[in-house]
Amino acid sequence: MHLNTSDGNMEVDIKYDCSDVDWPAIAEMLQRVGMTHYEPHLHRKAFENSAVTVFIHHAGQLIGFGRAISDNAYQAAIYDVVVAPEFQRRGLGHFIINTILTRLPLCNVILYASPGKEGFYEKHGLRKMKTGMARFTNAEKMRARGFTE
Ligand SMILES: CC(C)(COP(=O)(O)OP(=O)(O)OC[C@H]1O[C@@H](n2cnc3c(N)ncnc32)[C@H](O)[C@@H]1OP(=O)(O)O)[C@@H](O)C(=O)NCCC(=O)NCCS
Repeated sequence: MHLNTSDGNMEVDIKYDCSDVDWPAIAEMLQRVGMTHYEPHLHRKAFENSAVTVFIHHAGQLIGFGRAISDNAYQAAIYDVVVAPEFQRRGLGHFIINTILTRLPLCNVILYASPGKEGFYEKHGLRKMKTGMARFTNAEKMRARGFTE
């Protein structure tokens, strides 16, 4: 399909299911943008157990993805939203978030933004939480990266 990006029309392939996903590429992209990454088989498990998944390919290459977990009733949480650096600021991130929010119309949706990316989510109507709490398995690393006090 053609995606109307900020710099014109871009030919992309959008997938909403987890068949034929290049799981090592998911891990590599997360690593490339400085986000927490795991062994490819763990990403596969996480995406396959998610309520909504979005994958964007261009010229056969994975260039963006995102996912949300949900009870499919009233709560959901967004994770692993990434656009490859060379394709950022063209509207692909907007497409990923918009797709996830549209597919979970009745749910409260929470997420924790990478420090500095809050503005991106505010553009989609999300607001900073005043009482968000988290137990991270890698607590010290997340504190050092600015996610917790
Ligand atoms: C965050 C990310 C997904 C945004 O994707 P993107 O394709 O560059 O975003 P878009 O081009 O769709 O931008 C949508 C809107 O958000 C704005 N925006 C994008 N990045 C932003 C940022 N870091 N801060 C504030 N606003 C931002 C854009 O200006 C645009 O606004 P507009 O609609 O008024 O023009 C992308 O930068 C990325 O993958 N970053 C590295 C991984 C990451 O941090 N992911 C988020 C984890 S919480």
